[in-house]
Amino acid sequence: MNVLLINGSPNPRGCTYTALSIVAEELNAQGIETKIVQVGQKNLRGCIGCRRCKQTGKCVFDDEVNQMTPLFEAADGLVIGSPVYFGSPNGGMMAFLDRLFYSTLFDKRMKVGASVVSARRGGNSASFDVLNKYFMISEMPVVSSRYWNMVHGYTPEDVMKDEEGVATMRVLGRNMAFLIKSIQFGKNEMGLPDVVPPVHTHFIRS
Ligand SMILES: Cc1cc2nc3c(=O)[nH]c(=O)nc-3n(C[C@H](O)[C@H](O)[C@H](O)COP(=O)(O)O)c2cc1C
Repeated sequence: MNVLLINGSPNPRGCTYTALSIVAEELNAQGIETKIVQVGQKNLRGCIGCRRCKQTGKCVFDDEVNQMTPLFEAADGLVIGSPVYFGSPNGGMMAFLDRLFYSTLFDKRMKVGASVVSARRGGNSASFDVLNKYFMISEMPVVSSRYWNMVHGYTPEDVMKDEEGVATMRVLGRNMAFLIKSIQFGKNEMGLPDVVPPVHTHFIRS
């Protein structure tokens, strides 16, 4: 069992990384393998809505998104981490996630998901809500902790002083491990829920 943790920050060893590392440490302690990858320093462009991916299962822009696809497909859980920029997840991370979730056609049901956000002072909860939406449209159970998964800091040292934030990350890691194991158990016993055929309506009446 393994979890992929994606760091959307351009700082390879910054606050978001620090928070993700604590989650990874707890997952490892519970016997779950982890891989932290950093995409935030890359030149990530946004989705152009060409929908080629609906035929190919990959993005027309052959970059980190397509490189991450097999890792995401093989993972039992995904953690997405972002610093807060002007009250939202950072732009590169949003560009990356839009294309990752739109272009990948594999079954994501019952892979668990969690978001982690880091701000110096404000905007964490709004950013957290934005990130969780990727899971909730993908039939991915969202893992909770004892507080919303946020830390506060301008430097990794600040984050480590945010004792409640650090504890929130630890609880998140433990809960995620438990849920992954429980879902694996459930899948072995019952299989996945039956697929309901997709219905795509828009709001134009004929
Ligand atoms: C362009 C930019 C915008 C930012 N906007 C906010 C903000 O709206 N609220 C806030 O509290 N911190 C803001 N910050 C600070 C970072 O969110 C904060 O220091 C974060 O913990 C950095 O995480 P990192 O070290 O993983 O990059 C901003 C930083 C940058 C570079």
